[in-house]
Amino acid sequence: MKQHTLLMPLDMHLHLRDGIMLENIASLSAYSFSGAIIMPNLVPPVSTKEELIAYKERILHAVGIEAADDEMEEFSDNGGFEPYMTLFYQNYDEDFLAEVADELTAIKLYPAGITTNSEGGVKNFDIEEMRPTLEAMARLDIPLCVHGETDGFVMDREAEFMNIYESLATNFPDLKIIMEHITTKEAVDMLDKHANLYATITVHHLLISLDDVIGGMMKPHLFCKPIAKRPEDRDALLKVALDAHPKVMFGSDSAPHPQHKKEACGCAAGVFTAPIALQLLCEIFEKAGKLDNLQSFVSDNAQSIYGICPEFKEIILVQEPFKVPETYKGVVPMYAGESIGWSIEDVD
Ligand code: DOR
Ligand code: ZN
Repeated sequence: MKQHTLLMPLDMHLHLRDGIMLENIASLSAYSFSGAIIMPNLVPPVSTKEELIAYKERILHAVGIEAADDEMEEFSDNGGFEPYMTLFYQNYDEDFLAEVADELTAIKLYPAGITTNSEGGVKNFDIEEMRPTLEAMARLDIPLCVHGETDGFVMDREAEFMNIYESLATNFPDLKIIMEHITTKEAVDMLDKHANLYATITVHHLLISLDDVIGGMMKPHLFCKPIAKRPEDRDALLKVALDAHPKVMFGSDSAPHPQHKKEACGCAAGVFTAPIALQLLCEIFEKAGKLDNLQSFVSDNAQSIYGICPEFKEIILVQEPFKVPETYKGVVPMYAGESIGWSIEDVD
């Protein structure tokens, strides 16, 4: 049976939520990842030093708690897990940023209203208005993570955002800019155009196209923002992920919503993949004969790009079918009830 070991996997884009949801799902990530970049789109968004520190404490508490019941018991022995914290982008002044810099890993920018809990985001991308904040971030070496979508036609939103990436990249050459959860060939092409542009890619965007979401029966659990695009786009993402392009990192964008908010008229956006992400990645990379590149995609690239040194963790995966549970505490994962090709055998 084929086996594959991953060291210190990192999820460079993760939604852990808050309250009961946080307590229910955080240990699923802490079990198999050494750390994750934690998205700040709570209600209200994380935008002060106090909120950021308090949220980090709640996360650590959630991953440290004993399993509440048998269902989650296997995930309770999580070893180390570092929540790399982010603030919700606003125009912050340099003194504030200098004071908070040690507590955070990045700042996440959302265009206003473009996705879940992003109403307080940026309304118009006036570079001069943003300049003091972005220059201060560059000086303090704080990366900018960006949800890159306009409010245009849904299939064109990411491609239309490329002008904004271009203008951010050229106006702030010393700022590290991460194009989050890219879904298009256009975004892939940007990677080699600007030295300071990087990207995260989800596992679901490596697997599905829009056809899987709405081509047959509509699949609410595959609905997310940005929406999955054309097969050619997926192929472009696959190419850079499988080749472990040094500027791409794995970021699951695992975004749990309660089942009733997904299976509803007005379905919340988000695909929940945290507990199966590494298994799916092994399957994708093994099928392509590129398993040797997975380590760079799930950890090494992120370590170099962000300059982080995660806690030691070793994940042993085996090519043995894993039946994905129907739900994890009321959250329906991708491929619920289906069998996937790889399982986690052990975590040290
Ligand atoms: O599908 C998504 N869900 N995309 C996002 O950008 C946000 C996320 C969420 O927070 O649910
Ligand atoms: Zn996200």
